[in-house]
Amino acid sequence: MSPPPSVLLTCRIPSALLARLEERCEVECLQPPIAPALLAERVRGKLALLCLLTERVDRQVIEAGQDLRIIANIAVGYDNIDVAFARARGIAVTNTPDVLTGATAEFTWALILAAARRVSEGERLLRRGDWNGWALDFMLGMELRGKQLGVVGMGRIGRAVAAKAPAFGMRAVYAEQAGGAPAGVDHATQVSLDELLVSSDVVTLHVPLTPATRHVIDKRALARMKRTAILVNTARGPVVDEEALAWALEERLIAAAALDVYEREPAVHPKLLQFENVVLAPHLGSATRETRTAMAELAVGNVLAVLSGQPPLTPVG
Ligand code: GLV
Repeated sequence: MSPPPSVLLTCRIPSALLARLEERCEVECLQPPIAPALLAERVRGKLALLCLLTERVDRQVIEAGQDLRIIANIAVGYDNIDVAFARARGIAVTNTPDVLTGATAEFTWALILAAARRVSEGERLLRRGDWNGWALDFMLGMELRGKQLGVVGMGRIGRAVAAKAPAFGMRAVYAEQAGGAPAGVDHATQVSLDELLVSSDVVTLHVPLTPATRHVIDKRALARMKRTAILVNTARGPVVDEEALAWALEERLIAAAALDVYEREPAVHPKLLQFENVVLAPHLGSATRETRTAMAELAVGNVLAVLSGQPPLTPVG
């Protein structure tokens, strides 16, 4: 009898899912944070790698994983993986689309509301003991009703965010980086990125990180936005040039920002920490119990499919 296939897992997953893997595989489980050298060392001889967006699965790791058949990312974004290099070596790469769309869209709205109504700033003030009571002109924010939401990137998450706009009385427009129009969008109007930037009251980013989307929001883009606008990023940090954002906030070129992702996670640009009008979350977009379980389940499903000779359930690309 041949030995069970060996799998490397770079985080804890719910015990029922681990048990499902262990029924058919020999599982080695590492605990984050995992140094690149350790990942390269432990991936040797493994047939499957289940990993997180925090692990850089580069050429070195893939070369070390000579026997790999699948790299299953427990995330929808996969900019942490050298997909072209893996493909060239016949390794399947999978992600976890759909299962996190709802949670990420909800969290995007949590950030929009927090920034528009100054929730974090108000709580900080209250906890400092600086609240002197209700006043007619105290901590006024921006009302969403009647305003325009600009969605950059109308993929699954962008659509789910746009679909909730009418519930807040907002109209939605969207822009595509690639220029094309996605099929079946009936609750938003397509415009150019420039038009979206100049006319939206809330600009929310939902593009994957690729060479084309890195620093899409740069000085020029920020300078095109309304002075009263809010920028929201729940996509990937490097889609925004953080230095440019700090400059735009200093110059009061935009009213506020709400960020869940950063250029050098877990580091946050020190200037951004100083603005009262910036809401900062620690990459929580998909962080609900239900969604994280569904993500791990899908990644395990991908591994078991490929190891039993079936096509992956959710290959990337
Ligand atoms: C989270 O950021 C993900 O890509 O799933």
